[in-house]
Amino acid sequence: MFSTASLLTIFVLALSITGSPVKVRNSPITLPIARRLNVSDGTINLVQQDKARVAALQDHILKHGGHSTPATNLGNGYFVAVNIGSPATTYNLIIDTGSSNTWVGAKTPYVGTSTSSSTGERVQVTYGAGYFSGTEYIDTVDFGNGLTIAQQSIGVANNTSDNWGDADGILGLGPVGLTEGSLIDDPGMTIPTVTNNLHSQGAIHRETVSIYFEPIYGVQTIINGELTFGGTVKKEHAGSITYTPITNAYPASNYWGIDQSITYGALTILSSTAGVVAVGTTFIHIATDAYETYKSATGGTPDAATDLLLISSAQYAALENLDFNIGGETFSLTPNAQIWPRVLNTYIGGSSNGIYLVVNDLGTTSGKGFDFVNGYPFVERFLTVFDASRSRVGFANTPYTDATTN
Ligand SMILES: *[C@@H]1O[C@H](CO)[C@@H](O)[C@H](O)[C@H]1NC(C)=O
Ligand SMILES: *[C@@H]1O[C@H](CO)[C@@H](O)[C@H](O)[C@H]1NC(C)=O
Repeated sequence: MFSTASLLTIFVLALSITGSPVKVRNSPITLPIARRLNVSDGTINLVQQDKARVAALQDHILKHGGHSTPATNLGNGYFVAVNIGSPATTYNLIIDTGSSNTWVGAKTPYVGTSTSSSTGERVQVTYGAGYFSGTEYIDTVDFGNGLTIAQQSIGVANNTSDNWGDADGILGLGPVGLTEGSLIDDPGMTIPTVTNNLHSQGAIHRETVSIYFEPIYGVQTIINGELTFGGTVKKEHAGSITYTPITNAYPASNYWGIDQSITYGALTILSSTAGVVAVGTTFIHIATDAYETYKSATGGTPDAATDLLLISSAQYAALENLDFNIGGETFSLTPNAQIWPRVLNTYIGGSSNGIYLVVNDLGTTSGKGFDFVNGYPFVERFLTVFDASRSRVGFANTPYTDATTN
């Protein structure tokens, strides 16, 4: 029998053998995030941009390890302020859970300081509608609120597409495997993500990111969301969290991929199948067969100006819930949650009193292992937890699940 004292000794020894124990500084930590919609260039075709992004998501996974990594909301999306270097420069980065490289330099030039060191590695990622290439640096990344990473790999762009708008780059919150192929001379290598490093360097106790938004209700930049590393914050969500494992179905399994079925009222739109949850995608995209069923059930007609389905007020009044059945629970998009915010209609080329549906055609039929993308209209209604520690994704209702802001 071991005495308590010797057990303690063994425990301490075990720790010293496995290296210095990671001491969690304070966890979870929540950061404010803001949605920006830059409409300075007049109307924008968000559907086309989004389809290019979705095609890149599919393309990447089909090629597995190619350079064509998933895409982001070029300049229109959720931003978080990140401080890099010492003294730090603040960069506004797009939050993307569909890609995993973190990089800067699209707008604000990278400022090297005493904490910066170049690895000399060339790094490059091509997204659906944009790209960057440059050099890999290691630097201190500080999110504020005591959330600091001492040695984080970042891409420093010296060549980008010209459509990043206000964004300085991307904060990549996808699975680490998506960084494979981004180091040009070491294509088989992966690059630890910010979430990996926050965990391995002891800032958070679980490799978890949760994202909570309020639906957008205006064009101006507003702080309307929270990004939490290392857990979830109770007050953010109304319901309990339902978790579902990362899907086994390739290629969605390379991402934050899950299995779900979708019903519209009593009608099955999509039988249980795999797809992805993507913060960084503007709309919801479902397999062509499911889209056709939804289109005829709602009576929506394709609108040439916006590329969205247009419905009449009478059809809107008759809309039923669109139910996402995940992990044994039902997450309902109310009729109001299925339409584009009317205050933003004219910015996407629509008429101010038109009613446009946010569900789009994925462009491929179901059964491909990648049959849907749950983008902003979904994550703005349900708190989402991306849990790498336990290979699962969680969802919960929020005070805004049934909001009628659209
Ligand atoms: C920047 O990258 C693009 C896309 O890879 C490439 O076509 C272009 O030639 C590059 N420009 C420079 C100056 O290297
Ligand atoms: C919006 O985008 C344009 C062009 O993409 C850019 O020049 C401008 O700085 C951006 N920001 C604002 C606040 O307009």
